Amino acid sequence: MKAVVYEQYGPPDVLHFKEVEKPTPKDNEVLIKVYATPVNYGDITARNFANIPPRKFNMPLLLWLPALAFFGLRKPRIHILGSEFAGKVEAIGRDVKLFKEGDPVFGYLGQNMGANAEYLCMPEGGMVALKPANMTYEEASAVPYGGIMALTLLRKVNVQSGQRVLINGASGGIGSVALQLAKYYGAQVTGVCSTPRLEYVRTLGADKVIDYTEEDFTQNGETYDLIFDILGKSSFSRCKDSLTQNGRYLLASFKLDKLLQMLRTSIVDSSKKVICAMASEKPEDLVFLRELAEAGKIKTIIDRCYPLEQTAEAHRYVEEGLKKGHVVITVHA
Ligand SMILES: NC(=O)c1ccc[n+]([C@@H]2O[C@H](COP(=O)([O-])OP(=O)(O)OC[C@H]3O[C@@H](n4cnc5c(N)ncnc54)[C@H](OP(=O)(O)O)[C@@H]3O)[C@@H](O)[C@H]2O)c1
Repeated sequence: MKAVVYEQYGPPDVLHFKEVEKPTPKDNEVLIKVYATPVNYGDITARNFANIPPRKFNMPLLLWLPALAFFGLRKPRIHILGSEFAGKVEAIGRDVKLFKEGDPVFGYLGQNMGANAEYLCMPEGGMVALKPANMTYEEASAVPYGGIMALTLLRKVNVQSGQRVLINGASGGIGSVALQLAKYYGAQVTGVCSTPRLEYVRTLGADKVIDYTEEDFTQNGETYDLIFDILGKSSFSRCKDSLTQNGRYLLASFKLDKLLQMLRTSIVDSSKKVICAMASEKPEDLVFLRELAEAGKIKTIIDRCYPLEQTAEAHRYVEEGLKKGHVVITVHA
């Protein structure tokens, strides 16, 4: 089969289109013909992992070392990127009960990746589910990563109808779904991003947008029940006055100092809490996301599609910071 392979860390040029062995499903696995797979934050990071200094890694140092060991110290251990996908079940292992040949599916491979290829195998009980019927393969392929992360992180703070929520990083993979989920839960949502993506964030349903290159949301006198910072670009000390009395400061990316703040605000009698949370992966959440998509509660906006052989070009476009929505590799049309 055709795949995009990388054997050394570096810029998009390390990605090569080549012939590799087609996988064979084990007894409990499904073989999936990949139709579409987006380029997301994880792809860009994994492609160049060894060249990212620990200070630029958005998580505690203690997680950087195992991540480096996982991805490979000098050379990548995994050779095919692509953590999320949509496609069709091509064949099933003999013990598979949940899927049949021809089922349209979408799913998440996590850091094991492998979707930048014509075929992939997954255990039937893994992060795979029937794809939303109202979405194209390209649209559906961009739901799992941001959807799972946003859903499981937002659950930690129990967003309520009528709450005021600010999402710092609303135009990215996680923030774009977090915004739509917060709207689904009935919150009033402000999305923060940079100038080129203001319209995109409005289209996703934000009640208000703030351009972080023009305005510091911590200085505008507004208060929020939840500030969800995706990249951890703000700080609790600066956000404190922008939180309501029992406000929550939720972080998807955090270092040790933020973990210590979480500990402190959980022990000391502070009404405003810092919450650093790790997402969890459960196949039933994919089913829930499918139901939300089919009910029109979450949508995917595609900026550009590239054929598999132009994956390096797609990485370049994402890295240039020009995208307004998702950039997706169309593997089979
Ligand atoms: N906790 C967990 O379980 C978990 C799981 C997965 C990932 N993560 C973390 O999530 C992060 C990736 O999230 P993602 O995939 O959504 O990334 P992404 O797609 O690259 O989006 C990044 C977002 O941050 C915004 N941004 C960039 N600089 C900013 C600034 N100075 N101030 C405010 N916003 C800024 C971007 O806006 P513009 O594009 O408009 O500039 C964009 O909306 C990584 O740090 C990763 O480690 C955490």
